[in-house]
Amino acid sequence: MPEQPLVHVSTHPLIQHKLAALRDASTDLRSFRELMRELAMLLCYEATMDVKLSPITVQTPMGAAPGFKAEDTIGLVPVLRAGLGMLEGIMQLLPNVQVWHIGLYRDEHTLRPVEYYNRLPTEPTVQVCFILDPMLATGGSAVATVDILKRWGVTRIKYLGLIASPEGVQRLSTAHPDVPIHVAAVDERLNEIGFIVPGLGDAGDRQFGT
Ligand code: PRP
Repeated sequence: MPEQPLVHVSTHPLIQHKLAALRDASTDLRSFRELMRELAMLLCYEATMDVKLSPITVQTPMGAAPGFKAEDTIGLVPVLRAGLGMLEGIMQLLPNVQVWHIGLYRDEHTLRPVEYYNRLPTEPTVQVCFILDPMLATGGSAVATVDILKRWGVTRIKYLGLIASPEGVQRLSTAHPDVPIHVAAVDERLNEIGFIVPGLGDAGDRQFGT
């Protein structure tokens, strides 16, 4: 089987159209949340292209029909707070998933992630984890989240985000070369305070009005 590319930057026209609207500083709170929900769904569609299927038979009103059932047990891992905006839409697509929240914030001075919420049980309960976090800036939070999930015992992990910096992609793919990265864009750079430029500002603040 050909090897999957590690970094998937979506070229889907709907994703690119919605991403531009999301970035726009004049987009209001309600539209911002709606766009984030829709973008997450579209990215999830692309990131689930390799979900394992098993053949099944279903009964239609006319008889037996061959079909497929998704086999993988998927866990969604929204990184608080900003990852919450990607959760609802994906849960609509994948209603039977488990959701395991991870709380991390970035220390303003060191830019290092600080863990403040993690209620993972001792043994892993899912086979695949999708980390949801719209912004891959320095990559510190993403690397820390993958570290947490690998310590938990999950080996198949994907990162789903909206905007990445080249530095963040580099850091995550160097630390965890086995974790595919799905994003809508890789922007120009990080600025001196660790924000993605041009990015969209602070994804948590823009969706929660803070
Ligand atoms: C943002 C974002 C990521 C992190 C990315 O969260 O949602 O979690 O920063 O930065 P990094 O790649 O440099 O680690 P933030 O710390 O602002 O917390 P919030 O979502 O609660 O606002």
